[in-house]
Amino acid sequence: MKFPNIAAVFRRKHANSALPVHEGPPLKRVLGTFDLTMNGIAAIIGAGIFVLVGTVASAHAGPGIWLSFLLSGLACACVALAHAELSGMLPSAGSVYEYAYHTLGEAIAFLMGWSVLVAYAVGSSAVAVALSDYLEELLKPIGISLPAVMSQAPTHDVGIAIMIGAGSLCAGLVWRWLRGAASEGLLGLLWMPLVAFGAFKLALTLPLVSSVNLVAVATIALISLHLYHGVKESVRFTTFLSVIETALVIAFIILSAGSFNSANLEPLMPFGPLGIISGAGTIFFAYIGFDSITTMGDECRQPEKSMPRAIIYSLAICTVLYILVGLTMVAAVPYLELSADAPLAFVLHKIGYGWLVSAFSLGVLLSIESTLNVMLYAQSRIIMSMSRDQLLPAKIGAISHKHHTPYVAITVVGLFSALAS
Ligand code: ALA
Repeated sequence: MKFPNIAAVFRRKHANSALPVHEGPPLKRVLGTFDLTMNGIAAIIGAGIFVLVGTVASAHAGPGIWLSFLLSGLACACVALAHAELSGMLPSAGSVYEYAYHTLGEAIAFLMGWSVLVAYAVGSSAVAVALSDYLEELLKPIGISLPAVMSQAPTHDVGIAIMIGAGSLCAGLVWRWLRGAASEGLLGLLWMPLVAFGAFKLALTLPLVSSVNLVAVATIALISLHLYHGVKESVRFTTFLSVIETALVIAFIILSAGSFNSANLEPLMPFGPLGIISGAGTIFFAYIGFDSITTMGDECRQPEKSMPRAIIYSLAICTVLYILVGLTMVAAVPYLELSADAPLAFVLHKIGYGWLVSAFSLGVLLSIESTLNVMLYAQSRIIMSMSRDQLLPAKIGAISHKHHTPYVAITVVGLFSALAS
């Protein structure tokens, strides 16, 4: 492994330079435009449209929420077109890390790669926790409540101390395990204080742990296992989930359109144009995820064609669905009543489909799960790309001979996300 140095700050990759190799066999090129589009939809549709939309309507945009969706969708279209253009020119698994390496140089690419990894890591642990909260809400009406000891994270201070201890222990072990050029001399002994400090910190902190969010940890473990077993299997599963969530959104639009009351659309902008703009800023979260398509380049049959198309298709489909959800939701129920935690389920309840709410909530749970699936996948592929360029240890990017997946990266990502959850 190498570290970017000052001389390398502006060293760039060239589009026609030979693709660096990783340990193990190549990944399998089995995905097409349809797979990529469905995975884009799976990543986009999630907590944003099912949870956040109520606050945006009641506190920011009012009945004009569909304008916020339109505005946010237009901003996303600019980003998506840039992604589409670059992914067509540089069709590999590294996403923005790869683009930065080709255009801005190695050091910026290194920082960019880590930024994206941290963003996905924080996002995936937050989504896993949201999923466990939603599951609890779903089980409450049927009289099941999960014991706090297995459904709540430990206190903030204990959590931070465990992260520091485990991080230090893992860093020490990885350092020892790599035994590369950097482990010669004094640097080679660095693993000892890291492991000692990590073990000491954990020994002090673990007795203070009174609860663990086992639901989030178990979900991440299952998804990681699925990702390890092969890209086709995990993508097929994600496609199945995205079909469910798209059907759910369309069903909501049709049912709430049946209670369309144009009087609820007045006034269009109770919080003024600024309310629409701040609503667009908040609801942007609901669009995040199409970029994960650009991490599928190494497993795609024709990446230069499929990736740009899938980015544009998935964003266009979700934008249309989101605008229609926004419009029918505020037309069916007055916007001031929409501050509920699960606004779409609340609307269904209000318009006489209360009996559907449990099934709807189950679909929402699967939808959040699919977002998590794609986020964990994307992290593992960016780690693989960075390790292939030697900006992370080569062993972390190793590919399984049996399943043709980056199994070490998947394990690291799963462990980290589970720990953070
Ligand atoms: N767009 C994703 C969601 O709404 C992040 O959950």
